[in-house]
Amino acid sequence: ADAIDAALEALRAGEPILVHDAADREGETDLIYHADAVTPDAVARLRNDAGGLVCVALGHDVADAFELPFYSEAVDHPATGDHELGYDERSSFSLTVNHRDTYTGITDVDRSTTIQALGDAATNPSETVFSEAFRVPGHVHLLRAAPDLLAQRAGHTELGVALADAAGLSPAVVVCEMLDDETGEALSPVDARAYATRHGLSYLEGRDILERLG
Ligand code: 5RP
Ligand code: CA
Ligand code: ZN
Ligand code: ZN
Repeated sequence: ADAIDAALEALRAGEPILVHDAADREGETDLIYHADAVTPDAVARLRNDAGGLVCVALGHDVADAFELPFYSEAVDHPATGDHELGYDERSSFSLTVNHRDTYTGITDVDRSTTIQALGDAATNPSETVFSEAFRVPGHVHLLRAAPDLLAQRAGHTELGVALADAAGLSPAVVVCEMLDDETGEALSPVDARAYATRHGLSYLEGRDILERLG
């Protein structure tokens, strides 16, 4: 099996994988789990070992079913008028959420509760009344994937959802940027690969995912 097959198997087994987008895009490596696999220990790993923003990327159809807009379209504020991202046409940010069974929403148990419930909801959207299950705002950032995924956008949002699709899993993945504790910058691809090797995890380059699934 090649590196992509191994990563799909890892996602199915509930293990995290690492995905570097591209040197000429964000130049970031995200630690990615399928949402169903995000236990409290996994949340602790995301904040300790990755250190970026913990987000759940949802497939376009799921986001539509739950009426989850892009943040920039939902909020009527002058600062949302122009994205001006250096690395892409637009961000994929939607709303922030907490499951209603959480208290503050930020603890490892609370975020795990929210994230696993999002994974459940994505499996069968018609069985979840979103507003009964979740409150907005919350402590988990939602991201909306582009409708045609990698044909339209090659962010971690689409890379992660495309991998979930290819693995036969529901379109809900957690992504979190790996940061370098020494420099505060994005963890370099060399160091991200070394982390993957050290922990026996899959490391993929965005271009290899695009080649296979794009
Ligand atoms: C949210 C982000 C991350 O980069 C995340 O990977 C989603 O963004 P994108 O799809 O643009 O890569 O900025 O923390
Ligand atoms: Ca750390
Ligand atoms: Zn990203
Ligand atoms: Zn980022």
